[in-house]
Amino acid sequence: MAGRLQELIEKLSRDDIKVLRTIEKLMSRHEYVPLELIERRSKIPGGRLWRVLWRLSDLKLVRRQTGPVTGYTLTYLGLDVIALSSLIGRGVISRVGERIGVGKEGDVYLVELVGGEVAAAKLHREGRTSFSKIRRLRGPAAMVDRKQWFRIAKLLGEREFRILVRLHERGAWVPEPIAWDRHCVVQEYREGVELYRVRELSLDEAYSLLEGVLRTLRIAYVDVGIVHGDLSEYNVLYEGEGKGVVIDWPQYVYKEEENAGELLERDVAYIVGFMRRRYGLYVDPKEALDYVKGAIPVPPRPQ
Ligand SMILES: Nc1ncnc2c1ncn2[C@@H]1O[C@H](COP(=O)(O)OP(=O)(O)OP(=O)(O)O)[C@@H](O)[C@H]1O
Ligand SMILES: [Mg+2]
Repeated sequence: MAGRLQELIEKLSRDDIKVLRTIEKLMSRHEYVPLELIERRSKIPGGRLWRVLWRLSDLKLVRRQTGPVTGYTLTYLGLDVIALSSLIGRGVISRVGERIGVGKEGDVYLVELVGGEVAAAKLHREGRTSFSKIRRLRGPAAMVDRKQWFRIAKLLGEREFRILVRLHERGAWVPEPIAWDRHCVVQEYREGVELYRVRELSLDEAYSLLEGVLRTLRIAYVDVGIVHGDLSEYNVLYEGEGKGVVIDWPQYVYKEEENAGELLERDVAYIVGFMRRRYGLYVDPKEALDYVKGAIPVPPRPQ
């Protein structure tokens, strides 16, 4: 297992990593960190630092701004490398493999854990295309620059990890969370296919899948107090024999939030509707919602 990111990480010297981390820290205050500040903080002298920055720019881990003050900013690739090499340093993962998923708001890579098993590492990418999650976290008028994207991506990494812990310990159908570093969440790799690619299912399989998904939404709502908020056939992985897993939780809302009721209704109606259209399975959406809310003890039977 060795992907492009692994090769990149292996190329980096201690100085390289040190400079990346220095820029990362200083980016809490500067979008482009002045060269002079990097030199002072990293304590790497001018000529050597210059060569490091040249290399890092060449590898597209940092970007340079010239002008009255020369400054450097991290790219998302730079942030990825910092998080992944930190996970390697912490003894969580040993290698980074191929990219297995490109979402609107995250890239997912295979990684090898130190124990040898394979896991999935999701790297949040806020600000790439959609601002919906940012708006939800920061309010509607959010104009954000790169240093704020990074902060939000890290926040979403933390949010996803912590919520997976709570959902998983209560027996919801979610990948087991393994570790979190910055914007990167390492989680159990689940060998399933996105439901949108599953053309046919028997009624038994479809019902057993829907039952598990509804039970997961119920655990989320009743026991944990949250609504997924973006449930669709793209965020359910089907693993065969009527089993699956619900992924992509960071945009969840607490059930006390004002739009939570609406989002829950939409999530439930959406998945129930999809099962009907695609697999001909009919369950009553109103009863499904009651079940998810904890108002009735068992999920509705197919009709
Ligand atoms: N734990 C996992 N095991 C296996 N594959 C996974 C796992 N998590 C994510 N994937 C793969 O990566 C893809 C993207 O994951 P996810 O939906 O979590 O990210 P996303 O970027 O938020 O997506 P989007 O915003 O487009 O819905 C998934 O469709 C799936 O193929
Ligand atoms: Mg997704």
